[in-house]
Amino acid sequence: MQIIQRAIVRSSFAEMAPKASELAHSFYEELFALDPGAKPLFNSDPHRQGQKLLQMIAAAVDLLEQPDQLNQLLQQLGRRHVGYGVRQGHYRLVGLALARSLERVLGERCTAEVRQAWMRFCRLITQQMIAGAAELSAAA
Ligand code: HEM
Repeated sequence: MQIIQRAIVRSSFAEMAPKASELAHSFYEELFALDPGAKPLFNSDPHRQGQKLLQMIAAAVDLLEQPDQLNQLLQQLGRRHVGYGVRQGHYRLVGLALARSLERVLGERCTAEVRQAWMRFCRLITQQMIAGAAELSAAA
């Protein structure tokens, strides 16, 4: 990710802080609308699940300047997702769900630059999660 994109992700995430739970709620709503088959995978309380998602995104934002640690965190997350029944195909629609949620939460402040930076960040997250999951099946 470019320096400028990392800066945009950091500043827009800080800007979204007061609406963080709205972002998490919207993300799952969009994801389930795009992929109804994903919903039955979730067993826990949606509010708590949203908080966990946000905590993970916050941790990833904090590690933007430490790519090795960031990748390690995301690969571990990807390995845990194998246990939740998540497969590679499920990650396909995460970017679109996130883009729609950002638009809902940020409104007109969701500029092309902000959207692009978040799409790049989202790609990085999902690529590392998928890589972590693949290592698990390679070791099996
Ligand atoms: C941007 C990508 C994603 C991130 C950052 C993310 C993050 C998280 C986090 C932090 C948890 C809490 C448990 C843990 O830390 O291991 C979790 C649980 C879970 N995630 Fe994800 N996730 C992502 C994508 C997905 C996708 C695409 C699916 C499936 C469509 C999914 C399905 C689940 C399920 C089923 C659980 C367990 C929920 C439960 O306990 O009922 N995740 N996720």
